[in-house]
Amino acid sequence: MRKKIVAGNWKMNKNLTETKNLLADLKVKFEHMPNGEIIVAPTSVNLQYTSEALKGSGIKVAAQNMHQAESGAFTGEISADMLKSIGVNIVILGHSERRAYFGENDTLLAGKVQTALKNDMTIIFCFGEELEDRKSDTHFTVVENQLKNALFTLEASAWKQIVLAYEPVWAIGTGETASPEQAQEMHAFIRTTIKNKFNAAIAEEVSILYGGSVKPANAQEIFAKPDVDGGLIGGASLDAASFAAIGNAM
Ligand code: PGA
Repeated sequence: MRKKIVAGNWKMNKNLTETKNLLADLKVKFEHMPNGEIIVAPTSVNLQYTSEALKGSGIKVAAQNMHQAESGAFTGEISADMLKSIGVNIVILGHSERRAYFGENDTLLAGKVQTALKNDMTIIFCFGEELEDRKSDTHFTVVENQLKNALFTLEASAWKQIVLAYEPVWAIGTGETASPEQAQEMHAFIRTTIKNKFNAAIAEEVSILYGGSVKPANAQEIFAKPDVDGGLIGGASLDAASFAAIGNAM
């Protein structure tokens, strides 16, 4: 049975004091874990604190990004080994903000995926179409190409380290959510794409999260769809009560 997951991407929010407070609140809210995994992705500056604070809680910690090289002269960057050395074994790659503002393309992301795999990390791989793609009815092709360019060369065995996060760019931080039907339609397409390229077992086992303006009010309906295995949550993950409500909607 594939895993259900709700992950909170805090983006460039929460200083150390705010991180401490939010984590303390989350540990109380998730004293009884829901039927699935809860992950938080704070800023890299607070990863080490978070990793230590969450020990024994059942809540997992992820990085929001990492560099594709193992080490070297890459000022300002963070390596897989550095993350692992502070107990961070999960990394978000390919978020649309990394693609849009930091020039991360499919080729670069394929390299990051390889490095994360080599370092035995779990990858939450994000992708999704822009508004123009949906308007011009090319959203399925765009999504298929994003998967193809970054993930189609993977060994079958690598898929146990991959979580997919479909995030239509037009729904991120906009308050506009894909309808549960739109999410299900795309998630089913993604699963079929993986099945056709790899096999049915891999397609059935891979968790596909939905991201884009998920809130306590809409989470349950979206997560109830058969091919939606949870969510990647931005804005609503910054508040313990709303993130807990979403986590409990799994
Ligand atoms: P949002 O962000 O929930 O604020 O729309 C989602 C994301 O960027 O992962």
